[in-house]
Amino acid sequence: MNPVADKTKTDPCISRLRCIGCGAIVDHADQDFRCSNCGDLFEIFYPGWTGSAGTRVAEHDAASLKKSWLERKSSFLPADTSGVWRFREMLPTLNPGHKPITLREGNTPLYELPGCARAAGVDTLLAKHQGMNPTASFKDTGMTTAASFARQEGFHWVACASTGNTSASMAAYAARGGMRSLVLIPEGKISWGKLSQSLDFGAVTCQLRTDFDGCVKVLNEVVKRMPVYLLNSVNPYRLEGQKTAAIELLEQLAWQTPDHMIVPGGNLGNSSALGKALLEMRDLGLIARLPKLSVIQAEGANPFVRSIREHGGKTLTPVEADTFATAIRIGNPASWKKALRVIEATAGTVEQVSEIEIASAKAEIGADGVGCEPASAVTLAGLKKLVRQGFVKPGESTVLILTGHGLKDPEFTLKFHRGDLFQGTADERESARLNPFRHPPVVLDASLDAVIRTLEQAEKSDPTPSNV
Ligand code: F0G
Repeated sequence: MNPVADKTKTDPCISRLRCIGCGAIVDHADQDFRCSNCGDLFEIFYPGWTGSAGTRVAEHDAASLKKSWLERKSSFLPADTSGVWRFREMLPTLNPGHKPITLREGNTPLYELPGCARAAGVDTLLAKHQGMNPTASFKDTGMTTAASFARQEGFHWVACASTGNTSASMAAYAARGGMRSLVLIPEGKISWGKLSQSLDFGAVTCQLRTDFDGCVKVLNEVVKRMPVYLLNSVNPYRLEGQKTAAIELLEQLAWQTPDHMIVPGGNLGNSSALGKALLEMRDLGLIARLPKLSVIQAEGANPFVRSIREHGGKTLTPVEADTFATAIRIGNPASWKKALRVIEATAGTVEQVSEIEIASAKAEIGADGVGCEPASAVTLAGLKKLVRQGFVKPGESTVLILTGHGLKDPEFTLKFHRGDLFQGTADERESARLNPFRHPPVVLDASLDAVIRTLEQAEKSDPTPSNV
């Protein structure tokens, strides 16, 4: 591996990097994507968007943007069939001659969840399923942009620390883009499904004997010593791609803003990205008002909730994180300041939910015929609490962001239905109230009678499907 040459000359300067701490503006960040003045994170901004009259965009006319984004839906060009690059006017531009690395990410469905709406006590409820991406999580929308910039900068190696989804996504995009990838994951703390993806896509996969936060620490040292491109969500090019989920959502809603959007919070990159998109869409005149963006964490991995409740968001004290929702088992979230800004700007809130609440919410989403991973189910669990508190009114419209596919973590689902998820934990007794949600498999003799008896028993105990 050769040391990486200075890449500043190749930057297009259409977008620039601004430090969220001291406001320093640069065109090229160090390999750890931290400001060399103050150590804070960078965000991407677009100087060309701001006309002299204020925030209103100079060149982008909202109506013509909406029109050309829709027109691209009937095009077969790779950049148009990507649900990320279709919105390329909202993204940094690659230099001429550089093509995006794309797996046709984005283009994810918006589902109604009638049973979940009833369970939460709201009239209607929608879910934008980002688990329907090529590697089955929302990470692909950010990976297509950041991996493309990594390749443009001439890197041969990309790297991330991960709870499993970032690594699966990064490995796939690196492979597609002809780059090698290095994955650092906490040993024994990620689902097998996610681990298997990074193996399949050829990553050098290191299971470190630590947690996610420990993996981040090691990786930060690695990127300072070796010419590897950091693809964690401190990389602002990731967040630009992840913004497009909110743009696509608003397009699916005919640009009518919902009252609430609810997102799981781990490292807090995704909430920051979605919030950035909302503010930019408002500033560009694409939407007339903002939804309230709220972030839900697991009780066992709640540093952001605690920061806001105990310190008014002024500081964040890392916690030792533990939750069955391993995707968000994060104690020291990198993007908490960015997330705080968008929650405040959209008048959203934060909430935390217990392991039992997560498990029942996941089963309820499943009962609507939609699979998601436990980390995604925190959104419904959180919504229920926000409705009880009066923050979300029954007649208001809400969109849950489901971040990962149901098949990402089948072990959780199997344990839940077999009844041993909470065995030996402090929640074991209370978990009995989840029994009505459980559908364990039954082992029978291969006889007609046995099957008919089982069918009749099932009809007696649960006669009406909940959604008809
Ligand atoms: N949901 C899922 C399924 C995730 O994989 C993650 C994060 C989150 C929610 C939280 O998003 O970190 O942007 O606040 N997973 C990362 C990973 C950390 O390594 O795969 P966030």
